Amino acid sequence: MSQGVRIAPLTAADVGEALTVQRAAYVTEAQRYSAPLIPPLVETVAEFRADLRIALGAWSGTRLVGSVRGRVDGDRTEGDRMEVVRFAVAPDQQGRGIGRALLAAIEAAAPAEVGAFWLITGAESFDNQRLYKRAGYVAVGELADVAGVRLLVMAKPRPDHAERPGPPPRS
Ligand SMILES: CC(C)(COP(=O)(O)OP(=O)(O)OC[C@H]1O[C@@H](n2cnc3c(N)ncnc32)[C@H](O)[C@@H]1OP(=O)(O)O)[C@@H](O)C(=O)NCCC(=O)NCCS
Repeated sequence: MSQGVRIAPLTAADVGEALTVQRAAYVTEAQRYSAPLIPPLVETVAEFRADLRIALGAWSGTRLVGSVRGRVDGDRTEGDRMEVVRFAVAPDQQGRGIGRALLAAIEAAAPAEVGAFWLITGAESFDNQRLYKRAGYVAVGELADVAGVRLLVMAKPRPDHAERPGPPPRS
């Protein structure tokens, strides 16, 4: 990764700056699909502030150059999973390893009960897909959003996750 980039939790005080970086980063995705209202571009400051439970930023000096968040979901049968969302690096800082480092850091920041990671990316966002594949994600499904944009669902098991103990055997 570029020298001197520091990754740390995002706080409410960082949200204005982080939303600015997110919007700048996601414009190219919106243009790719002619879809200006994709969720990362219409998210409000208040919505962002309400989603800081698992949230990291990357700083180059005092400048915030990227951020990413995790959202935990799951049920008793499949175990908890964490969705990686709002993954963004400032346009002039892309391609230097900051994204890869943020992705590894948000996976490491997942609560202990999380046994798998998943994410959604554009079906034609091949650069992103390459990054995710290199990080161990595989395509597990396709869907379309409300605007008709084709999306790819990718997932991977948490490498270091211990199997959850099952229920005690019946006697
Ligand atoms: C996706 C994103 C967060 C990756 O961050 P990054 O710092 O550029 O990524 P890294 O430098 O760590 O990794 C580079 C790899 O990422 C991928 N990549 C995706 N977008 C890229 C871009 N604009 N420039 C360079 N690499 C990009 C490539 O696979 C690249 O690998 P390569 O060297 O084989 O081409 C960043 O490019 C971004 O903000 N893109 C716009 C928003 C977006 O698409 N977010 C993800 C939605 S699923």
